[in-house]
Amino acid sequence: EKGGFEHFMLKEIYEQERSIFDCMRGRLNAEAGTLTLGGIHHYQEHLINANRIIIVACGTSWHAGLVAEYMFEEFARIPVEVEYASEFRYRNPVINKGDVVIAISQSGETADTLAAMELAKSQGAIVLGVCNVVGSSIARLSHEGVYTHAGPEIGVASTKAFTAQLTVLAMIALKTAWHRKTLSEARFLEYLCELERIPAKVAKCFELNDKITVISELFKDARNFLYLGRGYNFPVALEGALKLKEISYIHAEGYPAAEMKHGPIALIDEEMPVVFIATRDSSYDKVVSNIQEVKARGGRVIVVVTKGDALIPKMADFVVEVPKTCDAFMPMVSVVPLQLLSYHIAVMRGCNVDQPRNLAKSVTVE
Ligand code: F6R
Repeated sequence: EKGGFEHFMLKEIYEQERSIFDCMRGRLNAEAGTLTLGGIHHYQEHLINANRIIIVACGTSWHAGLVAEYMFEEFARIPVEVEYASEFRYRNPVINKGDVVIAISQSGETADTLAAMELAKSQGAIVLGVCNVVGSSIARLSHEGVYTHAGPEIGVASTKAFTAQLTVLAMIALKTAWHRKTLSEARFLEYLCELERIPAKVAKCFELNDKITVISELFKDARNFLYLGRGYNFPVALEGALKLKEISYIHAEGYPAAEMKHGPIALIDEEMPVVFIATRDSSYDKVVSNIQEVKARGGRVIVVVTKGDALIPKMADFVVEVPKTCDAFMPMVSVVPLQLLSYHIAVMRGCNVDQPRNLAKSVTVE
């Protein structure tokens, strides 16, 4: 049942090449230049003309929502707010005519996300779902939606569902941008081609497994970890930290790298490893300075870089190289080494990675 893997989590990490491909299958055809999302056909107009998009989700799905915020703003020029479903539902949120709510959930059963959707619907919003489980409560409550088709996710820590959510959200953002003409036809086609290349790039990251195992051995006894990234890699930092804390029980924090100087920098010493996600994108130079600041304070750094980076290896303690892609799709690739890092550290610490203490696969309580 685990297909030769020791744990479901590892199996599901390795399934991502396939699950991202499955998620695009029958929807995206770069050669033909087509992107079809039948699931949101009836409410497509609402999305195209939305004044604002409100994304509601919890946990890892909320991190996918943060990436989607950047995608919708960059590609489709629609303002986006990303809300923890649990906060949104207990406020008295302002929902205006013309707002579209997108609920993201792997299980489709998360109580807080369901309640946030009900609230939004009762105030007249159109609610679209991005779910993995077909026929789940969230899928049924949505007006329409797009399934992630990642296949059953057994490990409590979400891995392949996250990258499939990013794939679906990228497709929705690109399709919306195409209709709104906020992306040129040429750029749109380039993005379709690049999205098709993501499964192969994810597969390349599996070659890092041995190196990450060695790094995990050196850092497995740390009591705290900091994860830093900027732009599209900021949500990846949050996700890397969440993966580590939920399965290895090591305290980890994710921060936007530039916020480090507003507080967390006080924590830096030899005892506090810092994981940077510093791929070659528009914030690269700034993140390099943040790495230097950590090194100057005696911190130990592990850095996810773009293949061929010549600068960071000179300052970092460890680097892991991932293939190059555009800024928007980098999270699907850069999260993979962080999933592997948390997995190996947790296994080395003797933790039950598939069923961490205190956690359930679907959180049906409020
Ligand atoms: C993290 C994790 C949780 C879930 C969260 C939302 O690995 O599994 O943080 O992401 O409970 O669950 P869904 O996506 O099922 O609504």
